[in-house]
Amino acid sequence: MTREPELAGQVVVVVGGSAGIGLETARRARAEGADVILTGRDPERLRAAAEELGAAGTASFDAHDLGALDAFFEQLSEPIDHVMVTAGRPYYAPLAELDLDEARRAFAAAPTTMVAIARHAAGKVRPGGTLVFMSGTGARRPGVGLSVIATLTAGIPALAATLALEIAPVRVNVIAAGFVDTPLSATLLGDQLDARREELRARLPIGRVVGPEDVAALAIQIMSNTALTGATFDVDGGQQLLPS
Ligand SMILES: NC(=O)c1ccc[n+]([C@@H]2O[C@H](COP(=O)([O-])OP(=O)(O)OC[C@H]3O[C@@H](n4cnc5c(N)ncnc54)[C@H](OP(=O)(O)O)[C@@H]3O)[C@@H](O)[C@H]2O)c1
Repeated sequence: MTREPELAGQVVVVVGGSAGIGLETARRARAEGADVILTGRDPERLRAAAEELGAAGTASFDAHDLGALDAFFEQLSEPIDHVMVTAGRPYYAPLAELDLDEARRAFAAAPTTMVAIARHAAGKVRPGGTLVFMSGTGARRPGVGLSVIATLTAGIPALAATLALEIAPVRVNVIAAGFVDTPLSATLLGDQLDARREELRARLPIGRVVGPEDVAALAIQIMSNTALTGATFDVDGGQQLLPS
């Protein structure tokens, strides 16, 4: 049985689209008939990703730089359909080692970027399109070193639900992931990466490690299903169900 591509004729912007979950979402969006516009900080990595996917455009800037974010959205000449936001990384440290300036930046970065993108979306995203923001399931349970990400994990779904009312009929949704096997995870874990993969294969209810393609599949579903808004969708292979 053949089917129509889910995103035929649509335009997907991926803020953080040159690696990991963002790149995989862009790849899948292309396969579903969308044009993609990719952003990221490293211009060379961005160029390589854009070339591989045949992206309709790229822009190199730090998504937490609000001036640069404004400039990016203002120069978009055509309406867009979806914005997937994967830029960013977690900040965690035990209380005694927490850098307060770094913590202050991290507390503000993701929510402020969400609000800024939502403001732009109101004028640029077609009705029925969605913003999709990344969050996590790992800090739902309190743990030493998680003060910043626990706060963000709790707050981001509430912010997304509020924004979903504010910019309707544009939709706003969140994906909460557990461990995903990406370049970010490789950087964070270093030589512990293989041991972590092994542990997850042994312990996760799904018996395998979650990859960026699992998250990308969910992102495309959220984009194409226009009934979904204000919601947070978990994709963690059951990681949050495990005793710590
Ligand atoms: N991997 C996981 O296990 C996991 C779990 C839960 C949530 N998440 C969240 O999901 C998101 C994506 O994770 P990932 O594992 O796919 O990361 P990744 O492999 O590091 O890829 C991140 C992408 O975003 C870009 N990026 C990062 N910071 C940026 C910034 N400030 N401005 C613009 N672009 C930026 C990167 O390119 P440049 O570096 O060149 O800018 C890259 O294209 C992150 O927010 C992460 O915290 C990840």
